[in-house]
Amino acid sequence: MLKVTKAVFPVAGLGTRFLPATKASPKEMLPIVDKPLIQYAVEEAIEAGITEMIFVTGRSKRAIEDHFDKSYEIEAELEARGKQKLLDLVRSIKPSHVDCFYVRQPEALGLGHAVLCAEKLVADSPFAVILADDLLHGQQPVMKQLVEVFNHYHSSVVGVEAIAREDSRSYGVVEGREWEEDVIKLSGIVEKPAPEVAPSNLGVVGRYVLMPSIFDHIKKLKPGAGGELQLTDALQSLLTEEQVLAYRYYGTRFDCGSKLGYLKATVELALRHPEVSKEFEAYLRGCLPVFASAA
Ligand code: G1P
Repeated sequence: MLKVTKAVFPVAGLGTRFLPATKASPKEMLPIVDKPLIQYAVEEAIEAGITEMIFVTGRSKRAIEDHFDKSYEIEAELEARGKQKLLDLVRSIKPSHVDCFYVRQPEALGLGHAVLCAEKLVADSPFAVILADDLLHGQQPVMKQLVEVFNHYHSSVVGVEAIAREDSRSYGVVEGREWEEDVIKLSGIVEKPAPEVAPSNLGVVGRYVLMPSIFDHIKKLKPGAGGELQLTDALQSLLTEEQVLAYRYYGTRFDCGSKLGYLKATVELALRHPEVSKEFEAYLRGCLPVFASAA
């Protein structure tokens, strides 16, 4: 049986929307409460049974490699001070059954190009793509949901959610017919269409399970939206040859590529954090009169 054991994390982007925070450190290392975005993404992959993490990196992204590597200094320090809990926490970032691989994307030519950079490491197996900017929170991890759909149909599947029509220029938008509850068989997919021509209100979120045949389609791409080689355009080409599905996932998405989405994620996850939730909630409640008087 085809099994999804590899995930590609395109992390070469510059993160200009978060400057100056991202001048010298990767946007994927921005923390939500106490964990960097990329760690949420990797944990979601691990929960989906994925064991090989492939990072497509670029310049000034070393912090990501260091994060998933052993830190002798920190471990020795924590051990010497008898801080066992923290030691376990640091060691659990990369469980021993998980392997990390790194490949460089030399130029920012688009998401399709980033995925193509991982071709040699992915080889001939189906694989996940996770965009760490999209922080997804579900009762069941969202990549696990997608892998289950893949295991059932054995075809590429993209995660989608209902979007406001006026926001279509921020998403890949799909066209198709409902195959089964929440599973759509695609007849088209278009990157960042204008609202007037968007084929539906279902936008692609940063979760994909792809057949390796996608690579041939990426190689044939011409620059698309924004002058970039778009993964969406490769999917449009793929679906003319084989079945491609969209799956309306269960869960909540925080667009951590935008400041507002990032702040929302911080508030919501802080309210669920075992260490700070109570005090933080009390603090927010204390803020309410301030909002009321400002209104
Ligand atoms: C990328 C994809 C787009 C998708 C989006 C989800 O766009 O190209 O199809 O809808 O991620 O976050 P980006 O946000 O990188 O411009």
